[in-house]
Amino acid sequence: MSVKEEDIEKSDLTDEVVNLCKRRGFIFPSGEIYGGFRSTYDYGPLGVLMLQNVKTLWWKSMVQMRDDVVGIDCAILSAPKIWEASGHLRTFSDPLVDCKKCHERFRADQIGKACPNCGSEELTSPRDFNLMFKTYAGPVESDSTVAYLRPETAQGMFVNFLNVLNTSRKKLPFGIAQIGKSFRNEITPGNFVFRTREFEQMEMEYFVEPQTAGEYFNYWVEQRYNWYLDLGIGKEMLRIRAHEKKELSHYSDQTSDIEFKFPWGFGELEGIANRTDYDLKAHSNASGTDLRYFDPINNEKYFPYVIEPAAGATRTMMAFLIAAYCVDDVAGEKRTLLKLHPKLAPYKVAILPLSKKEPLTDLAKSVLNSLRPHYMCDYDDSQSIGKRYRRQDEIGTPICVTVDFDSLDDNMVTLRDRDTLSQIRIKIDSILDEVNKKLDF
Ligand code: GAP
Repeated sequence: MSVKEEDIEKSDLTDEVVNLCKRRGFIFPSGEIYGGFRSTYDYGPLGVLMLQNVKTLWWKSMVQMRDDVVGIDCAILSAPKIWEASGHLRTFSDPLVDCKKCHERFRADQIGKACPNCGSEELTSPRDFNLMFKTYAGPVESDSTVAYLRPETAQGMFVNFLNVLNTSRKKLPFGIAQIGKSFRNEITPGNFVFRTREFEQMEMEYFVEPQTAGEYFNYWVEQRYNWYLDLGIGKEMLRIRAHEKKELSHYSDQTSDIEFKFPWGFGELEGIANRTDYDLKAHSNASGTDLRYFDPINNEKYFPYVIEPAAGATRTMMAFLIAAYCVDDVAGEKRTLLKLHPKLAPYKVAILPLSKKEPLTDLAKSVLNSLRPHYMCDYDDSQSIGKRYRRQDEIGTPICVTVDFDSLDDNMVTLRDRDTLSQIRIKIDSILDEVNKKLDF
């Protein structure tokens, strides 16, 4: 029986997941030996595998499996002209207030009338604080060498619109996808990797004929919602929320967020926006390069509209971890497990020999070598088998393969299923087929 609903949600599920991430090597506070560094995080041996899976699965569904989307990978350091034209220098800001007593700073829209730190009601009036990280390219720090770390990957797709169009020879509707780091000088980062200053985005700009924008907006909301469902997040943990007019970003005509039920309430995983022709027009005007699309059928030039599904890779990984975290009761003992979709799990298979010695090690290594070209595998020969199973459950490994002394005689091993705990004995010769069948990729 899962005790997730009754117990964990009432206690602090975030703390439990943060703790597991640290203990098992998913996510560490960055620069921890120096006391950490301002809500930045490092991804450990398991975290790097899982984050890679999130990104690969997004890429597969958005690029690999489609005829109409191509990829790109743009520079993070970018010219101020891009951000001037896009409107970010002017409008990408949050309202900031200072507490006059303790000098802490807060987002005015996130606090009541008093300082959340010391309770003082003496706050400055709100002023706009631009969220972009500014730096200098080259050894001279001057106005002419200012550069920005991109706050979204999206602008890379707009400024390369013609390059991609001309080289890929795509026709509307078509999309350009990108995965990569973005940076925002958030006033109040927090809730683990939910809001950080450095994070990874997975964004796609889908260029369409203006009159079809509404239809494609609905299409992408549905596609993206189903992606989360297909990877194991339950319907009850997800919702789609349309933005009110006053919430819309400066470039958007319509936005819906796909939200996940985090332990502190629903929070955005992804926004799907109709960016209209805002960005292409803005870059055409600012650069003097005509970014209109030539429609060969009607022999006319126009600015396409853009539908943008924009997701966070790191935030999404956290949602998958929270959705998968549960505690079972196995023969009176509590068992923590991550019921991750196998596609997301860092390791797909763990090979566990019952002894550290030859000839069992030889056999176990041969099993490992037959599986590792196909799947990310773990090999663990330390501690009791019970403890090793618990560890694999806690890191979400869907299949354990136990190599025991009988294996030497009958050339068979035991496959143990993470969720049902069922065990079956199979021939070593057929191990890859059996694992393929069970993982069903
Ligand atoms: N190009 C549109 C855009 O950037 P956004 O809603 O600001 O839209 C898209 O960002 C996604 O990026 C969000 O839904 C969220 O998942 C992720 N994201 C944004 N800011 C973040 C932050 N500070 N930390 C972690 N993820 C963030």
